[in-house]
Amino acid sequence: MRSLRKQPVGVFDSGVGGLTVLRELHKHLPQESIIYFADTDRLPYGHRSGEEITQFVREILHWMGNQGAKMVIMACNTSSALALETVRKEFDFPILGIIFPGALAAVQYGRRIGVISTLATANSNAYLNAIKEIDKSVEVYQVGCPEFVPIIESNRIYEPESREIVAGYLEPLLKKQIDTLIYGCTHYPHLEPVIQEIIPEQIRLIDPAKYLRTSAEKELELLGLSNLSKDSLGKTKFYASGCPATFATASRQWLGYLPRVEKVQLTPVSVALEPIE
Ligand code: DGL
Repeated sequence: MRSLRKQPVGVFDSGVGGLTVLRELHKHLPQESIIYFADTDRLPYGHRSGEEITQFVREILHWMGNQGAKMVIMACNTSSALALETVRKEFDFPILGIIFPGALAAVQYGRRIGVISTLATANSNAYLNAIKEIDKSVEVYQVGCPEFVPIIESNRIYEPESREIVAGYLEPLLKKQIDTLIYGCTHYPHLEPVIQEIIPEQIRLIDPAKYLRTSAEKELELLGLSNLSKDSLGKTKFYASGCPATFATASRQWLGYLPRVEKVQLTPVSVALEPIE
């Protein structure tokens, strides 16, 4: 049997947001092979219910398991906020979420932390709870920004109207005089050039993708799953539930090349699988 160490790491998001996590993995864990899945057919996740998201995530994890993933990284805050706890009990491979690593990093720097995220993540209070669990005395201000993902997915980032929209969502956080801002959605680091123009320089920006990568690296080592062939580069394969060409085109500017994308039809998993004891 092929060694588990050589098996791929699964990474998923609703769309191009998870590429901010992929970028970190490519930079720091280049020997790992990766399967990237974008659920573009059901994008955006941010306005969906917890049940819907949990069901989507279940289907993705089921498929990832069939692809031989040795670990799955949720490169999606919305999924991590709403489904992680439930699905972790249902699969026998490690599943990593992005919220806790992001919260932990922010608390190292901030006392007044702003979080921008999808509405579903904001309503779940996942960041608020994670931060308060680490340090009760920190103030947390959350803003759901439902217009950001459509702007990013349709590549309207640099349009003047988009700048106005971004400024509008950041305004309440600036009024609260935050010292730290968490990108609580993996799509949002793509907006960084615009955000940096709007917020004062002294506000520290936290991209949880960077800290998720560190936890993934540690977890792979701890579980004896790291690919040890440091001198060979891992392969990345891209899959999407929606139109492959649309996802390839949207990804190009973040990847620096036009990826080959295969379409995947996920199989509905109608009932929760038996919890793993
Ligand atoms: N990029 C995802 C997140 O981190 C999902 C965004 C969406 O589909 O609404 O939450």
